[in-house]
Amino acid sequence: MAIRNIREMGDEVLNKKCKEVTEVTDRTRELIDDMFDTMYDALGVGLAAPQVGILKRIVVVDVTGEDPILLINPVILETSGEQTGHEGCLSVPGKSGMVTRPNYVKVKAYDEDMKPFIIEGTELLARAFCHEIDHLDGHLYVEKVEGDLMDVVPDEDEEE
Ligand code: NI
Repeated sequence: MAIRNIREMGDEVLNKKCKEVTEVTDRTRELIDDMFDTMYDALGVGLAAPQVGILKRIVVVDVTGEDPILLINPVILETSGEQTGHEGCLSVPGKSGMVTRPNYVKVKAYDEDMKPFIIEGTELLARAFCHEIDHLDGHLYVEKVEGDLMDVVPDEDEEE
């Protein structure tokens, strides 16, 4: 268990495409534990491995604080609807912007035992899945912001 350093916008690791996970090793499990610790410590609702400098397709999400979700090699299978709302990112501290995302997404991913599963999300969970999966392809939400990035008071907005 450890808190890892969160990389911030401008760090080139955030613009790279991550590699698929082929095997969950002890090191991978340690990384996953650290990602959850780091996300909760930073009061975030999601974190992707490149945000801690690791170019692997691993995401952690928890939009309620009591529902930890691990996604390994996640792929969006289906989306529907639309939502427009404030979005933030732990790699872009103190900022937020309006982003339009699907209101529903269906994701296929693998768990810690590399067993495939399907998970669906709506509203904030759908937004978090899209935001975090974008990180795995080197994309930040700031590319999708409608209008200007705004300054936010810390803790006022959800950070992902
Ligand atoms: Ni983010």
